[in-house]
Amino acid sequence: MMSVFQGKSFLKEIDFTKDELLYLIEFAAHLKELKKQNIPHKYLTGKNIALLFEKTSTRTRAAFTTAAIDLGAHPEYLGKNDIQLGKKESVEDTAKVLGSMFDGIEYRGFSQIAVEGLAEHSGVPVWNGLTDAWHPTQMLADFLTIKEHFGKLEGLTLAYVGDGRNNVANSLLVTSAILGINISIVTPEELFPKQELITLAKEYAFESKSKVLVTADTDEGVKQADIIYTDVWVSMGEEAAFKERIDLLLPYQVNQKLMAKTEKNETIFLHCLPAFHDLETQVAEEIKEKYGLSEMEVTDEVFRSENALQFQQAENRMHTIKAVMAATLGNLFIPKV
Ligand code: CP
Ligand code: NVA
Repeated sequence: MMSVFQGKSFLKEIDFTKDELLYLIEFAAHLKELKKQNIPHKYLTGKNIALLFEKTSTRTRAAFTTAAIDLGAHPEYLGKNDIQLGKKESVEDTAKVLGSMFDGIEYRGFSQIAVEGLAEHSGVPVWNGLTDAWHPTQMLADFLTIKEHFGKLEGLTLAYVGDGRNNVANSLLVTSAILGINISIVTPEELFPKQELITLAKEYAFESKSKVLVTADTDEGVKQADIIYTDVWVSMGEEAAFKERIDLLLPYQVNQKLMAKTEKNETIFLHCLPAFHDLETQVAEEIKEKYGLSEMEVTDEVFRSENALQFQQAENRMHTIKAVMAATLGNLFIPKV
């Protein structure tokens, strides 16, 4: 029997049901256990995997590479300066060529239309490693981390505090609602998510009996939070917006004062990373010089606190990406979904 995942692309969360997303999270937990016990799990022996990166990456690239190798596949990195895509060759033509040589394609870039086009024309599973619209593989790692910590997902409340209309915020909004986690997007009005996304999330939340809150009020937004999540204030490709974002988002910095606003006593902190929490990067140094800020979306104190699980979350990128590749490209027996 072919599973529902076989041959399917992983382009955005809303292409999957709650049960399917939960299956991938559970399967990732299983693969993590196999990896820890050194038990081989080569579901993709002999497969070739293309890793297309128009934007930079540490975690996603490292996760796809190591996951592919653990699964017995061969990953090949094709960076933006290595191939013709977008400059000299269309998405359609590139997809046809890559699909004739590779068994699966990861794409990180700007356009959701491009990743959808690769899936349409390549004839092989395509996995979205982040676009301007969505970051779906990140979601699996995030909710695996939450499940590991709390032992459950349903009924928890996640407050995302920061740029409310970037890829990570969009993905958290819909994925939480699908999975039955209450979601608060806490952000200034100028950065509210698109109305159509809020409406969509509310439809999912109605089904899963969870709540959606979009608010500019930090007190209201984080009050019930079991998880406080943030991301950079300026996403890749938006670097010109630093000044404007700092002005808008400084009151939304995740610091101890904000963490203390929650009524829960076990609130954890998550961040998809990379994070600006100190002055140990070139960009952070430049921001300090220009605007006098030494921490941005999260303070070093919160980042280094006991409840900050961002590195567990980062490791989980590998196990969850492995689950996505194995489920969509491997010949697995998946009884439930
Ligand atoms: N979280 C994440 O996608 O990290 P990278 O940009 O390093 O891949
Ligand atoms: N919103 C960030 C996420 C990085 C993983 C960006 O797009 O740059």
